[in-house]
Amino acid sequence: MDEKLKQLLNDKKCVAVACNQWGDTGKGKFVDLLSEWADIIIRGTGGANAGHTIKLNNKEYIFHLIPSGILHDTQGKINVIGRGVAFDANILLNEINILEKEGIIVKNLKLSHQASLVLPYHLLVDRIKDKKSKIGTTGRGIGPLYSDYVSRVGLFVNDIFNPELFKQKLKKFLESKKVVLDSFDKDMAKEVLSHEHLLNGRFYNEKTILDFDAMVDYYTNEVANKLKDFIIDLDVFVKDALKNNKKILLEGAQGLLLSIDYGTTKYQTSSDCSIEGLAKGCSLKEEDVDLVFGITKAFYMTRVGNGPFPTELGGKKSEEYCASGHNKDYEKEQYKDVNELLSSDDDFKLGIGFRFLGSEYGATTGRTRRTGWLDLVALKYATAINKNNIVLTKVDVLTGVKKIKVCVAYKYNGEDVFYAGKTLKKGDIINDFPRFSEILYDCIPVYKEFDGWNEDIRNIRDYEKLPLNLKNLINFTEEFISGKVIIVSVGPDRSENIIKL
Ligand code: GDP
Ligand code: IMO
Ligand code: MG
Repeated sequence: MDEKLKQLLNDKKCVAVACNQWGDTGKGKFVDLLSEWADIIIRGTGGANAGHTIKLNNKEYIFHLIPSGILHDTQGKINVIGRGVAFDANILLNEINILEKEGIIVKNLKLSHQASLVLPYHLLVDRIKDKKSKIGTTGRGIGPLYSDYVSRVGLFVNDIFNPELFKQKLKKFLESKKVVLDSFDKDMAKEVLSHEHLLNGRFYNEKTILDFDAMVDYYTNEVANKLKDFIIDLDVFVKDALKNNKKILLEGAQGLLLSIDYGTTKYQTSSDCSIEGLAKGCSLKEEDVDLVFGITKAFYMTRVGNGPFPTELGGKKSEEYCASGHNKDYEKEQYKDVNELLSSDDDFKLGIGFRFLGSEYGATTGRTRRTGWLDLVALKYATAINKNNIVLTKVDVLTGVKKIKVCVAYKYNGEDVFYAGKTLKKGDIINDFPRFSEILYDCIPVYKEFDGWNEDIRNIRDYEKLPLNLKNLINFTEEFISGKVIIVSVGPDRSENIIKL
């Protein structure tokens, strides 16, 4: 590990990796990197909706549920799935199998007995409902799972080890879902349940849609046998770890702008992926965390799924295009010349150019990620919650782009609307991020333009050696958000970082 990074971590006991945007900013890379320092790595929020990528020796690993410190399991590091996680047993067992095939035998994984259990019902409802509501979820059952948690009908990991209790709880659970299940088109339900994430139809029942016995057998036999040795009481485990001066790393999923408590309404995920939610999901308190690495993509931004994105290149056209299922192969075939895209006057095309440059295709769903300019209004909002130490990632991506814009305010462009104590009118300038999607959809970005840089920065490790134009942009960002850039990431590999103390 870089000496300067060691210095930064020197007096720390507990650090966190959290995203300041709409996810996919490079959390996986930094959890993997910081795992070298940590004794314990805990994932605290979200579920298999996450897709965290680690690039190591030209090999790419993508993890959805297992913590991204898992490649350090062989060095005795303990990876934990925390109480705040939506736990999908099938996904975890799959990830363990994939690692085993790679010769990595998972020995030190732990799972909180309090994690909420994702059931086939959750994936089924998520996938059927999203066809209508068009949020563009990942289909991993996340919304329905957390809804059941707050509705007090959900099951927990601990339940699978008590077969009789599991049966009783599952029976009641399914009874409470009867009206919903009966409303489903049977053929559609069968098709959804035939997916490999739902074990290719193992839970389908022609009469009741979901097969009670198949679920009892899978969870209380197959899953329980495989996971028994992993289960811990994380509340106690963490308390002991703090007492024994163990170094703890928290792994966030999603991003602040997707948080149920802080994100853009309706088009968000269903857990609190801020530092507050993350700490809680790891059985810790926010004040236990000494340093938050606020992972921030720059100098562009992405969003996957629907929802407002004021700085999106190509605006509504891009949102609709990305929602319509185009993938990487389609785009490669359709748009062969990246330079033509990058020099285009059409923002929609420029956005595709950025997608090519950053390889912005979903790690979980393969969807095209929407691209746009860095939104400093949103970043200022995010860092006020996630703390103001930021890691700028993918900074290498826009090398060679002539002009770079950052959003410094919004101009309201909708009908008169009552908002936060006053009437917003067309033309009003907004300086504070409005999280209500109906307002944000009517916000037009006000930009400040900077000159880009041409020098290849991937091999630079000394901050002072970065191109002046890039340093100007970084200085402006720090001033605007009243924050501090602590790392500039210039490539996907563990080693491709500039530590800026
Ligand atoms: P996460 O969900 O936040 O872990 O991010 P993803 O894994 O979904 O997406 C980030 C992508 O960017 C991955 O493919 C990473 O390998 C890649 N990446 C991370 N940091 C950098 C960087 O500094 N430069 C470049 N070019 N790629 C990066
Ligand atoms: P990582 O951890 C990017 C988005 C989905 C959708 C919304 C709701 O890789 O950064 P959900 O399935 O959670 O109910 O979907 O949230 N979303 C993500 N976008 N990165 C993620 O995770 C995401 N997890 C969920 O695209 O818009
Ligand atoms: Mg991701």
